[in-house]
Amino acid sequence: MKPINVGLLGIGTVGGGVYAVLERNADEIARRAGREIRITVVADRDIERARRLTNGAVKLTDDALGVTRDPDIDIVVELIGGETLAKDLALSAIENGKHFVTANKALLAVHGNEIFAAARRRDVMVAFEAAVAGGIPIIKALRESLSANRIEWVAGIINGTTNFILSEMRDKGLPFAEVLRQAQRLGYAEADPTFDIEGVDAAHKATIMSAIAFGIPMQFDKAHVEGISRLESVDIGYAGQLGYRIKLLGIARKRPEGIELRVHPTLVHANKLLANVEGAMNAVLVQADAVGATLYYGKGAGAEPTASAVIADLVDITRLHTADPEHRVPHLAFQPDQVLDVPVLPIGEALTSFYLRMRVLDKPGVLADITRILADSDISIDAMIQREAGEGESQTDIIMLTHQTVEKNAEAAIARIEALDSVQGKVTRLRLETL
Ligand code: NDP
Ligand code: HSE
Repeated sequence: MKPINVGLLGIGTVGGGVYAVLERNADEIARRAGREIRITVVADRDIERARRLTNGAVKLTDDALGVTRDPDIDIVVELIGGETLAKDLALSAIENGKHFVTANKALLAVHGNEIFAAARRRDVMVAFEAAVAGGIPIIKALRESLSANRIEWVAGIINGTTNFILSEMRDKGLPFAEVLRQAQRLGYAEADPTFDIEGVDAAHKATIMSAIAFGIPMQFDKAHVEGISRLESVDIGYAGQLGYRIKLLGIARKRPEGIELRVHPTLVHANKLLANVEGAMNAVLVQADAVGATLYYGKGAGAEPTASAVIADLVDITRLHTADPEHRVPHLAFQPDQVLDVPVLPIGEALTSFYLRMRVLDKPGVLADITRILADSDISIDAMIQREAGEGESQTDIIMLTHQTVEKNAEAAIARIEALDSVQGKVTRLRLETL
């Protein structure tokens, strides 16, 4: 059978991995796909590097858009990144009847609804396994393997860079900036690493997972996003004393009122598997009604782990591209006319527990005042530590863990605590999930 022809757009970290793995495992991949998957053209703005990586074996161009119109290409793989050019490439490839594969979570979280609608009109497939959690087949699991279930929530460590930074800072005491540089050298970080650090990349991925898990449109603009840049090492230390680790989690939870979609540093008890996911590894925990909890763990970034997911999409498309479009797996798992506009809830409506750190005057009655405010707000305390004040010190830290409450209720109580004369400055609050 004649090979299926692929146009590869971008031969950087992931594109380089895709080229190398497709070449190395060509026979095994063809046995699975039913025919050879052949990259026939590579577009990159660095033609010399592309030539070195491909040993002159394929056609090279710096005109990515041209590849999307090339009549000899069956599948376009976009591995350039960003939203603007990538969107033009996606829509042009689709318009020209090509199937489209991407690892670009920003593109899908922001423009996915438009791209999937265009793909439906042209009867082509858009595949994006690599866009969430790198090499972990979480899209396949959510979209296909769990299709008997009502998915209740998904929570994951879905950004390798920040998990790597948090792990190295905690274990080796290395400074933030140095670990970030290491993550960039290792090819984990986004072209703009603030996307990683500020939680945006994780929010792109959580948005994609929420859409597939619950059959809702991409609603990235409604996600609550907090990164790790304001996390203080003192809180990592106190959390440790209380038996917790702090992870940047992406959470999507279905409630009767709507969907929680949030990314933020989160305390996770050290005895949970998620708390022990270290370095650039990713893990996604899915709670579903029939199967219960399932956990997906693996490399969330890097050249070949991500290439593994991209090539799995190429194999899927190769197997399916002659199938009647009606019988293909829907892009967002649910039939397009069954995708429901369920609202994403504002963060004030989130149901979560809290870690609170307060700087207080070391004098009688302070603790009683604080606990009274929490009790008045119906917030129950789960654990507490008070740092012993040093000699001559007039202030100390109180750290409390609360049981679950609605976030706006906790915020109102915190405002009252901050207004107490005995409480100095702002209360540091982090969310805690029991998972
Ligand atoms: P890289 O920056 O390593 O690779 C992108 C490549 O595209 C580079 O060779 C770049 O050239 C080239 N390029 C940029 N602009 C153009 C253009 N206008 N025309 C042609 N080529 C261009 O990125 P990654 O491989 O790391 O990431 C690619 C995508 O995969 C992104 O969407 C990213 O979010 C996603 N992803 C990345 C993962 C990872 O571990 N790195 C994991 C999962 C997803 P130049 O170097 O000159 O800029
Ligand atoms: N920058 C991303 C991360 C790459 O660190 O997880 C994988 O999507």
